[in-house]
Amino acid sequence: MMRKLIVAIDGPSGAGKSSVTRALAERVGYTQIDTGAMFRVVALMAHRNGVNPDDENALAELCAGLDIGFDLIAGAPVVLANGEDVSSQIRSPEISLLTSKFAAIPLVRIYLLAIQRKMGEQGGVVLEGRDIGTVVFPNADLKFFLTASAEERGRRRFAELVAKGVQVTLEQTVAEVVQRDEQDMNRKSAPLMRAADAIEIDSTGLSPEEVISLMESHVRQRES
Ligand code: DC
Repeated sequence: MMRKLIVAIDGPSGAGKSSVTRALAERVGYTQIDTGAMFRVVALMAHRNGVNPDDENALAELCAGLDIGFDLIAGAPVVLANGEDVSSQIRSPEISLLTSKFAAIPLVRIYLLAIQRKMGEQGGVVLEGRDIGTVVFPNADLKFFLTASAEERGRRRFAELVAKGVQVTLEQTVAEVVQRDEQDMNRKSAPLMRAADAIEIDSTGLSPEEVISLMESHVRQRES
């Protein structure tokens, strides 16, 4: 009988995790779970409510009253915060940098960890993030660590932002990608790290299709 797997895709910002996760999930008929979007929602709501990363009480209260959801509107995936579509707002450069700060707070990670485990425990899921294979699902059936050079990741993020009409420079985008990675890799709580048993894929010279096909073949092999 075919097994429904828990698939983890970790890696730094701009390595192509989101598009690859979406396409892979679609092909194998799994649910996509974007854990970065969850951290982004916390940062956005904290920002709106004037809550600082070091204010534990206010942050705990904010998390307790927060309902994070994923849905499809006209076939496109959307992220909901207490029912409001915040998909665009959570992707601004300002919120991206702020998210990295909130993601370093243990209280925030513990709150989201419980939600992520609940969403994924039944299998048939592709979860993307930074600590899925190391902390959230250390026993995941299949783990990938997707990387690319900093320049390449900066270029990709720049193209995405420009397409959305965000006013940024390439230089600024590469610098922000590097800054975020440093914050994510050097934090104490669940830092960005490759799990020892993760399959590493460097996407620098590969097309998205090549990466997706490679991952799909691993999933099919493991399912049977
Ligand atoms: O994947 P992303 O760019 O949407 O992630 C946003 C931020 O959240 C990024 O700074 C890393 C952090 N993050 C994390 O710490 N752990 C996760 N599982 C997912 C994201």
